[in-house]
Amino acid sequence: YSNEDQSVLKAYEWSNKLFHHVLKHTKDGKDALNYLKNRGFSEEAIEHFQIGYSPRKDQFLSTFLKGKGFEVENLVQYGLLSSRDGNTFFDRFQGRVIFPIHNHQGKIIGYGGRSIQDDIQPKYLNSPESKFFHKGKILYNFHQARRHFQKLNQVVLFEGYADVIKAYQAGVYHAVATMGTSLSDTHVKILKQYVDEVIICFDGDSPGKEASYKSAKLVNDAGMNARVANVPNEMDPDEYFEKHGSEAFQKLIQSAESYVAFSLQYIKKNYNLNTDHDRVQYVEKALDIIATVNQAVERDFYLNELEETFKLDRSTLLQEIDSRRRIMR
Ligand code: GTP
Ligand code: MN
Ligand code: MN
Ligand code: MN
Ligand code: MN
Repeated sequence: YSNEDQSVLKAYEWSNKLFHHVLKHTKDGKDALNYLKNRGFSEEAIEHFQIGYSPRKDQFLSTFLKGKGFEVENLVQYGLLSSRDGNTFFDRFQGRVIFPIHNHQGKIIGYGGRSIQDDIQPKYLNSPESKFFHKGKILYNFHQARRHFQKLNQVVLFEGYADVIKAYQAGVYHAVATMGTSLSDTHVKILKQYVDEVIICFDGDSPGKEASYKSAKLVNDAGMNARVANVPNEMDPDEYFEKHGSEAFQKLIQSAESYVAFSLQYIKKNYNLNTDHDRVQYVEKALDIIATVNQAVERDFYLNELEETFKLDRSTLLQEIDSRRRIMR
């Protein structure tokens, strides 16, 4: 790191120390602390994830950083402070709970700020993309999760900060989040260096399901094992944990379906299986998916289903699988 870079990272670190202190030990942080406790965040987790609060004051952080000798002009582009005119600097995350985002080496390189009052929008304000923070390259909590990957040769992937933190409270330590719903090729490449299996545990709403399908395909195409957890009733994992507790949460993850089982079911909504045309289209697509399975026994299992559901000839199905697998090789 250059001197300037080091100074920016230092500013992030100091800012987080301040926000964390405000949350835990000051009157300004009281409502935020109550908010977190009411949502079921444990004190231990607040500590472990170094969560903080940025009070509703225009120049709380900027005054603090100036006092520490930082050149605040430089910090605007990194989203630590805002400025309208380039002369006066004010706090960007006012009224928000602060989730520090670390790079994979463990340095703070951004914040997720969650509003706790209705008049502060949007719900989440993240740090902008910068030379340190690229959403497509960073996974939330990677720096702490990595030492737990090896045990199960697996990572659990969530959408949000709250989901990862509740997973931690449930004893699921090998968890990271995409901070939204798009998993990138780069994310997959990084994970592939550590584990063979990705369990996708996105929100149970329809964007979450769609993202699960896309992400599982990406993981599967990269030659890794993808599985998808079924979070029921439009809940998200954080809500599921609050409603059903640690054991149920662990079960939800352990019982995640394979990519093939999930996607054969999921894509059905795109077809009207009462028409011959769509039945053919669906079977073609299903064969594409089944052909990616490397174990013959597992392929057989899914072909059984197709054979029975669509009254098809087994040897035709096998031929179709063979030709697809020849192209893949
Ligand atoms: P809670 O309501 O606090 O439980 O948040 P959530 O994690 O359930 O939020 P949601 O499912 O809506 O979004 C998942 C993740 O996407 C969040 O944790 C954020 O990282 C990110 N995200 C959500 N909304 C926004 C937004 O408005 N802006 C940005 N930049 N990111 C967002
Ligand atoms: Mn502390
Ligand atoms: Mn969502
Ligand atoms: Mn959510
Ligand atoms: Mn949530």
